[in-house]
Amino acid sequence: IDIKTLRGVTGGVTTIDPGYKNTGSCESAITFLDGEKGILRYRGYAIEELAEKANFLEVAYLLIFGELPNAEQLAKFDKDIKEESHVDEDMKKILDGFPKSAHPMGVLSSLTSALVAFNPSSVDVDSDEAMYNAIVKIMGKLPVLAAWTMRKRKSLPLDYGDNSLGYVENLHKMMFSRPNKAYETNKVVNDALDKLLILHADHEQNCSTSTVRIVGSSHAGLFASLSAGISALWGPLHGGANQAVIEMLEAIKADGGDTAKYIEKAKDKDDAFRLMGFGHRVYKNFDPRAKIIKKSAEEVLGDLGIDDPVLDIAKGLAKVALEDDYFVKRKLYPNVDFYSGIIYRALDIPTEMFTVMFALGRLPGWIAQWREMRLRKEPIGRPRQIYIGETERSFKSIAER
Ligand code: ACO
Repeated sequence: IDIKTLRGVTGGVTTIDPGYKNTGSCESAITFLDGEKGILRYRGYAIEELAEKANFLEVAYLLIFGELPNAEQLAKFDKDIKEESHVDEDMKKILDGFPKSAHPMGVLSSLTSALVAFNPSSVDVDSDEAMYNAIVKIMGKLPVLAAWTMRKRKSLPLDYGDNSLGYVENLHKMMFSRPNKAYETNKVVNDALDKLLILHADHEQNCSTSTVRIVGSSHAGLFASLSAGISALWGPLHGGANQAVIEMLEAIKADGGDTAKYIEKAKDKDDAFRLMGFGHRVYKNFDPRAKIIKKSAEEVLGDLGIDDPVLDIAKGLAKVALEDDYFVKRKLYPNVDFYSGIIYRALDIPTEMFTVMFALGRLPGWIAQWREMRLRKEPIGRPRQIYIGETERSFKSIAER
């Protein structure tokens, strides 16, 4: 039964499904996910294979346009993005207005929204060409804005990248280059970053992606929709979990490393504490991304010669939780962000920037979902409700209240 027929059949009936646990919001050909079996595929390709063999820009193209690019298509995509990797100088004034202590996710969301004012043509995407232009603009500019938010926190001069470098290496350079110091590339670091971005690139109708689609469904424009998606991702129950995981692991370490104590806290229903990085709305089996990332964390730390006690705490915590009845019964496994923060730390990325890295990885997924929604001419998103408030009342003047 297709969506239009279903709408006809159920017209007049409102179902209530808090958190949309059993409600599909759209048909989509982008990402396939089987939470029971732990399968994740982008456009039919297994995440394991993409993480191993593809680079982030190829995956971005695949997600957005549906096919892996050939060499010519990839070169054009890369060139078009690079030609858009400048940002209006006046955007620096907006960044200037934020305190240094501002959370980078708030800054990034605001700057993404502000970009509309400097690129008004990005809103009208009625032709294929206009849509493509909006896409390469944001693919070029978002890494610049992300790098700027980090540099501002560190009092470093704002900079652009080096367009002779690849997309991910250029991002790394924009974040880490120092005045009067030659930038050196590091293959281990760039490969690790590339893999993390691929693993985060799409995950069907999660909270931030649904936000992008629903805001975009009002035809508000790509950048405004992405700004809303960045805000949705910020929360600790979603993308903000990667920051929350490291903060939790550090707190456990500072408290003597007693993992069992924190497992008990997480099980206690009177305690608000949750084991961050554990559980998932859809995966009721191991998150396939977590498997790849755990292995990658061990390799990256080994290659960089880093001995991080937080990795041992994470492994200990996972071992205890995976043998505990509470977690087994509820099918709570480590998710992608249980280990990602450990890699970000090894790459010297500040904790408050972790969710920004997630946003940069999720960018092509958000774009692909927004594009699909617009091309399918989906109607404006507008859920119904069951009203539980007062019935009709008469107005009382202020003297009578
Ligand atoms: N620690 C302890 N108990 C948990 C946890 C956890 N991390 N996650 C779920 N539970 C328990 C719940 O208390 C609930 O128990 P109950 O049945 O006795 O009431 C049961 O497991 C089901 O949990 P829900 O909250 O109903 O599951 P939901 O699908 O709504 O939430 C979520 C999923 C938000 C991911 C949740 O597991 C969670 O808060 N995890 C920690 C935060 C986190 O890691 N978020 C990142 C998700 S991945 C991502 O967005 C990239």
